[in-house]
Amino acid sequence: MNAIVGILAHLLRPTASSPLTLCRICIIRVRQWPLPSIESAMIVVTRLGPRRFPPSMNIVDLRQTTVRQIEPLLEEEARHWRDELHWDYRGALELIKRFLDAHALAGCVAFEGGSAAGYSFYVLEDQKGLIGGLYVSSKFPQHSIGRRLLEEMLLSMRAIPHLMRIEAQLMPFSGPVDTPLLDQGFRLYTRQFMLLDLQKAHEAKSDTSGGMRLTRWNDRYFEPCAKLIYLAYANHIDGEINGCGQFVPGASFILHEPGSDDLVAAVLTSEVSPGVGHTTQICVLPGYQGHGLGRMLMQTSAEALRSMKFGELTLTVTSDNRTAVKLYEKLGFHTIKSFTAGVWPH
Ligand SMILES: CC(C)(COP(=O)(O)OP(=O)(O)OC[C@H]1O[C@@H](n2cnc3c(N)ncnc32)[C@H](O)[C@@H]1OP(=O)(O)O)[C@@H](O)C(=O)NCCC(=O)NCCS
Repeated sequence: MNAIVGILAHLLRPTASSPLTLCRICIIRVRQWPLPSIESAMIVVTRLGPRRFPPSMNIVDLRQTTVRQIEPLLEEEARHWRDELHWDYRGALELIKRFLDAHALAGCVAFEGGSAAGYSFYVLEDQKGLIGGLYVSSKFPQHSIGRRLLEEMLLSMRAIPHLMRIEAQLMPFSGPVDTPLLDQGFRLYTRQFMLLDLQKAHEAKSDTSGGMRLTRWNDRYFEPCAKLIYLAYANHIDGEINGCGQFVPGASFILHEPGSDDLVAAVLTSEVSPGVGHTTQICVLPGYQGHGLGRMLMQTSAEALRSMKFGELTLTVTSDNRTAVKLYEKLGFHTIKSFTAGVWPH
């Protein structure tokens, strides 16, 4: 979700040196927007609608929907983000609403008996489509509606010329989405949403810096940091998706060799709700990994957040990234929710 919100924010403020642009996904320039045409999506919906859905269910293009129609759904979804993930989703909702108002958000809404039961949306970035959200209200049959929304959306996405890849990272507030994604030919990864209680006892910070300079974030590190992230994630399992929030420069740090502008490691932190930080990025250059730098940066960031009176720190990680998961567990993080990320084609 938050990756998509980052993109939306980026689109709304394309020239701003906004902290949001620090997120990996946000630094990618979005060239094609909005796509596809309303007409092409409508053709798909019209063709499938009457044949495949119960008479009471109606699937409508998101760009033909008003904010008022789906507001209760959005609010219900925001409560899940707050209660289950300690995440203040209201900023994200405001962005989504602005795009809905502009009829510029591609996706589908399921209406049951005149009420919006679920919605999903996507954004396009170069030749890649990102499924940003899928939510079905608990008042409706969540599995069947969720599946149908996904099917509809994927059908219209695949009709977009030159679309080479689709990514989905969906919080399963409406139940698991693995089966429909698998059925649609996605490769799945399990992701973990982890949380650290900053008030609990913690081990003393290691002072491993290997002779390098530890510096608090400054905007002039933006370019070298983008390069570091690119190098650290080359062919890496966790290289696809990451999150945003309100950037916290005071809890973001970089490491570099004395006398060099090239970065060796970085940790970037956001605030996702009052007093809750989120590590949007932690990476160490290959060749420097396994020497305690990652641990030291995480501890430094946590310490800075503590001094700023934050109570919790969260992050997401792909379960197969064993090195990172082990590191976070040793630092005291525990998993509060697992979810599925999918990539198409295999
Ligand atoms: C994940 C990452 C940030 C860890 O940084 P690091 O400097 O390599 O890690 P550290 O040396 O501080 O190691 C801390 C712990 O991680 C684990 N670890 C580190 N390197 C390891 C390795 N090669 N094999 C197994 N475990 C390893 C160990 O549990 C270690 O704990 P220990 O010191 O008690 O043995 C770094 O490997 C990286 O940048 N990876 C690529 C990008 C990435 O995956 N980022 C995280 C996305 S969520």
